[in-house]
Amino acid sequence: MLEGVEAPETSNEWNLVTPKNVLVTGITGQDGGHLAEQLIARGDRVFGLVRGQHNPRRQLLELEFPGVTVVEGDLTDPSSLIRAVEIADPDEIYNLGAVSHVGYSFKNPALTEEVSGKGVLNFLEAVRLTGRTEKTRFYQASTSEMFGGLDYNRPGDGYDEDSLFHPRSPYGVAKLYGHWIARNYRESYGMFVSCGILFNHEGERRGYEFVTRKISHAVARISLGLQDKLLLGDLWPKRDWGYAGDYVDGMWKMLQHDEPDDFVLASGETHSVEDFVRQAFALVGIENWRDFVEQDPAMIRPAEVDILLGNPAKAEETLKWERKVNFEGLIKRMVDHDLALESSR
Ligand code: GDD
Repeated sequence: MLEGVEAPETSNEWNLVTPKNVLVTGITGQDGGHLAEQLIARGDRVFGLVRGQHNPRRQLLELEFPGVTVVEGDLTDPSSLIRAVEIADPDEIYNLGAVSHVGYSFKNPALTEEVSGKGVLNFLEAVRLTGRTEKTRFYQASTSEMFGGLDYNRPGDGYDEDSLFHPRSPYGVAKLYGHWIARNYRESYGMFVSCGILFNHEGERRGYEFVTRKISHAVARISLGLQDKLLLGDLWPKRDWGYAGDYVDGMWKMLQHDEPDDFVLASGETHSVEDFVRQAFALVGIENWRDFVEQDPAMIRPAEVDILLGNPAKAEETLKWERKVNFEGLIKRMVDHDLALESSR
């Protein structure tokens, strides 16, 4: 373990074998941050694929994780992926990079398909063409947005690995392509490719454009007198929300398992956006939350996923995956974090 790096809260197993070379895309995002933290603590050599010439996120990454080797590359540029794979010579790849905001994907559908869909193919090809189909294990970040939550396809006791897919956004469609091409490479070339079908996972590293962080941040600012209103889209959609650190631990477990496979990671509970808002405001002693919330029509999507609820039984049984943070704990963690952040400014 590197000096000065503490064991991550969410890791309940230690990788006692030789340190691995691990290449991560999307390393500047929420999950990438948790993963870098956990891998570094385990002693692995971490390579992060970062896009663009003057990407400000690169500097933030280098400040937070000086141990990470930055490799320039882009999921839409196959030759850059081949180069990245040759530089990192990875034992494991975590493909977390994507256009990940569902609302944004309606405005930029072609870019979304290029990055979140075809980017997966580009990356798998880079592994194959560099002769690493046997050496490199590949994690594909699939998503519960592939299910869709329509009337004919309600989750019942929870969507699992065999449930029907009916994506409702360009993002969901792109991710479904990524999911199937990943499975195809597993079946065609015998590659160790595992897909994590992750339900919503949040936390203090979450971007402000996602609803939970938008809420926790606004609630903190409103309670401190720094902001008057919270503008939101629909409050009725229901999501299955968990803590990102727990889910990243699950990704790692998928690549340590004996066999490649697909696994749902979820909390097994569903709550509306309104539930999240009400509970977040209650934590700062505000019960009349409706006085502070207004609807922003710009946040309403052309098609919505009404309800998501996952069944994580397979991951719990096979991978011994467990969650440490529940819904209430997640909201408290985020609101407390944003109160401290805004108080210190
Ligand atoms: N972002 C956002 N902003 N969402 C809002 C808002 C708002 O102001 N108001 C209401 N919502 C609703 C959305 O319409 C959606 O129903 C729900 O809140 C959650 O939105 P997001 O937090 O943007 O997440 P998401 O469910 O669309 O997608 C997230 O989870 C997926 C897994 O199911 C993303 O992280 C995806 O990348 C991920 O795959």
